[in-house]
Amino acid sequence: VERTKTFVLFGATGDLAKRMLFPSLYNLSCEGSLPDGFRVIGSGRTAMETAEFHDKVIEALKPTDLYDEAKARKFADAIEYYALDTDKPEEFAGLKTMIGDAEKDGISYYLSTPPSVFAPVVAGLEAAGLTGPHTRIAMEKPIGHDLESSREVNAAVGHAFPEDQVFRVDHYLGKETVQNLIVMRFGNALFEPVWNSRHIEHVQITVAETVGLEGRVSYYDGVGALADMVQNHMLQLLALVAMEPPARYDATSVRDEKVKVLRALRPLDSSTAASNSVRGQYGSGAIDGQPVKSYAEELGKPSNTETFVAVKAFVDNWRWQGVPFYLRTGKRMPAKVSEIAIQFRQVPHSIFTPKRGSLLPNTMVVGLQPDESIRIAMMVKQPGLDRGGIELDEVSLDVSLAAEFDKSRRRVAYERLLLDLIEGDNTLFVRRDEIEAAWMWIDSIHRAWEASNLPARTYTSGTWGPGAAQGMIERDGASWRD
Ligand code: BG6
Repeated sequence: VERTKTFVLFGATGDLAKRMLFPSLYNLSCEGSLPDGFRVIGSGRTAMETAEFHDKVIEALKPTDLYDEAKARKFADAIEYYALDTDKPEEFAGLKTMIGDAEKDGISYYLSTPPSVFAPVVAGLEAAGLTGPHTRIAMEKPIGHDLESSREVNAAVGHAFPEDQVFRVDHYLGKETVQNLIVMRFGNALFEPVWNSRHIEHVQITVAETVGLEGRVSYYDGVGALADMVQNHMLQLLALVAMEPPARYDATSVRDEKVKVLRALRPLDSSTAASNSVRGQYGSGAIDGQPVKSYAEELGKPSNTETFVAVKAFVDNWRWQGVPFYLRTGKRMPAKVSEIAIQFRQVPHSIFTPKRGSLLPNTMVVGLQPDESIRIAMMVKQPGLDRGGIELDEVSLDVSLAAEFDKSRRRVAYERLLLDLIEGDNTLFVRRDEIEAAWMWIDSIHRAWEASNLPARTYTSGTWGPGAAQGMIERDGASWRD
């Protein structure tokens, strides 16, 4: 089966379904991208009249760019709802009845549920005979909380679904610029020759958010930024920056190269944890001029969970020897920004004695958020007669994807991923060995933190994290791009 005709969403009354999944499916349906006769079944724990469920879906669609009352109504009313207690395998029989013989035309399951439900759902589907060769399963993070628990989840899922039918979602891979990073690197001859330690001084990856805990207390506390953001999104970005050229743009080739990078990450230990990582937790402060509470106040108790982390990572292979990859992510920062900055080395010898300005090394910045862009900072001479020395200036070679391509709307990352799932292309999904290699490195950091008792330092909300994060990079003679 190439395109699966039935889509079963577990966690259909949850937050992600409301914010992302239903809007994305709706957008795809408005554009005619879904297979003919496409059928959506929503499943949740709560018993609910189907009509009530439809109204919830409509509410979720209202904020979408393509919202149209009649179309939204038609889309929502076609969705079937099945209330299910996933701990009761016998209840999957009812789901089987609802699905009927649709399996031959393919089914995509989507687990947008707490991870504790993954194994019971898979077992229930298996027991009900709903896991044949024409089925696929997608799951949201977190896949475990360390290497061992992620192996357990992967094994439970793998019992019923072979790896090529498993789609582990990392929504960063659905972002347009992330895919463009691959095209930029391997669709141009200009960059690859200088894409190594001889020419690159360091790499910075920043994912900053202004939001705080946002009512996710039960999930977030005890998990923290390292597991929530670095383990998945940021390591995926790092892997795409650092990987060797795949022989083809397909799921096996690309993921083979990414996993090699993840396996080459140098573990941290208690002797390097304090110098190569910083943990922070937001205190009170202000975002956009509005006062906000501290993490501990939102939580209602003190906690040592980090809402900010900065790590200096090394990829121990020939290409990247000695090149630091500085990663930082935090909540309650001054702006929502995600970007990858490649800092090239200074020219080997400067021939200028500039009258004004100084020679700055080139930087390439790949922006994911707020705008999708690729910028290269380079040196030019300011126009003029230059009496008494040249006037140097830095200008930007700028590709704004929004301006360059007149796309009427910006797609949600999930549209791309849902369509890839339905069509069976898992290039932009994370393979089991990648997740496990990523956890192996993250585990080394968690262990090192524990062994060295690294505290989460308080930073004021609305700032770029604890001062120690500046110290970490400045000791190397570099600085964060703020
Ligand atoms: C999620 C994290 O995976 O990514 C959240 O769990 C975070 O904590 C979110 O807010 C950020 O995603 P985006 O697309 O808004 O950068």
